[in-house]
Amino acid sequence: MSILFHAYPLARTALFAMDAETAHEVTLSGLQRAYDCGATRRLLHAQPKAPCTLMGMTLSNPVGLAAGLDKNGAYIDALGNLGFGFVEVGTVTPRAQPGNPKPRMFRLPRAQALINRLGFNNQGLDAFLANVRRSQWRSQGGVLGLNIGKNADTPIENAASDYLIGLEGVYPHADYVTVNISSPNTKNLRALQGGDELSALLDRLADKRRELEDRHQRRVPIAVKIAPDLTEEQIDAIAGILPRHGIDGVIATNTTLSREAVAGMAHADEAGGLSGAPVHELSLAVIRRLRQKLGADMAIIGVGGVMSGRHAREKIEAGANAVQLYTGLIYRGPALVGECVSALARA
Ligand code: FNR
Repeated sequence: MSILFHAYPLARTALFAMDAETAHEVTLSGLQRAYDCGATRRLLHAQPKAPCTLMGMTLSNPVGLAAGLDKNGAYIDALGNLGFGFVEVGTVTPRAQPGNPKPRMFRLPRAQALINRLGFNNQGLDAFLANVRRSQWRSQGGVLGLNIGKNADTPIENAASDYLIGLEGVYPHADYVTVNISSPNTKNLRALQGGDELSALLDRLADKRRELEDRHQRRVPIAVKIAPDLTEEQIDAIAGILPRHGIDGVIATNTTLSREAVAGMAHADEAGGLSGAPVHELSLAVIRRLRQKLGADMAIIGVGGVMSGRHAREKIEAGANAVQLYTGLIYRGPALVGECVSALARA
């Protein structure tokens, strides 16, 4: 196994001494350098195979990278080479935007958690697509999800037009598209999860997809990403709406606004979405309810607090078809990917 994996606990001490967002940038550029000199490529061969299907696609394994770690799609190949079965990048908005003022990302090590209020900082759709086109992950058999959102200064009443621009742009380059309506850091975005708002948005997206399917002669699956802070009634309503619009999958879940699990800890009162260990149980409850309401056909991607192979297995046992990781990678390093693949290969 590569030194890259075993060195992570050491590297982590240095990274955790930095501001969280600086550490993020340092890690990604280091990973890119490791990839460029071939250090990560050997890792893939050491990993067990756990092929599966998701939304009609064949994956080498059911462990994916969650959106938000590579917002501009600038590190797809380097990240894919850590052993993921699928990689999701974005959220991308039609126009570039700076996001919220810094600092806007905080670690809560005692809870193995993060709070972020980045606010969809990204270089916009054109730069994102240029990066995606340059990447080789798909041509090497990797599965790529492209995650779309709305600009902060687009009024919520016009949100659909931003999602339509996003869908049209990413469609030819995506294996699947994620419609992110659950970030807590864009004002009113989560209101799009309400029954009427969601039906209206998905109507427009379904029409656009029919047009794009004709144009590109390919049907690209669409997944909707939801929050962990929904009531059972809200989850049931969403589960009723998605199949009616031909949606292929649900990604459950995004970060939480709840602070119950971290009350009293440093940074617990920072505004933003909480991710990591405290989200595991919240997202499990959403996945269980969704599976009960959706039946076997709809794909569910379980995300939130996968910090070990056991957590990954629990997501699948709750009804997910695949899992995604983000905060676990910060705390555990890239060895977590293989640990989850092995746990699911045995399951
Ligand atoms: C995120 N997440 C996220 N999700 C999304 O759909 N679009 C995004 O741009 C982002 N950005 C983002 C930034 C940061 C710093 C974090 C920590 C998270 C949410 C992420 O994909 C995932 O759904 C949650 O973090 C829960 O999973 P983990 O982190 O507990 O494994």
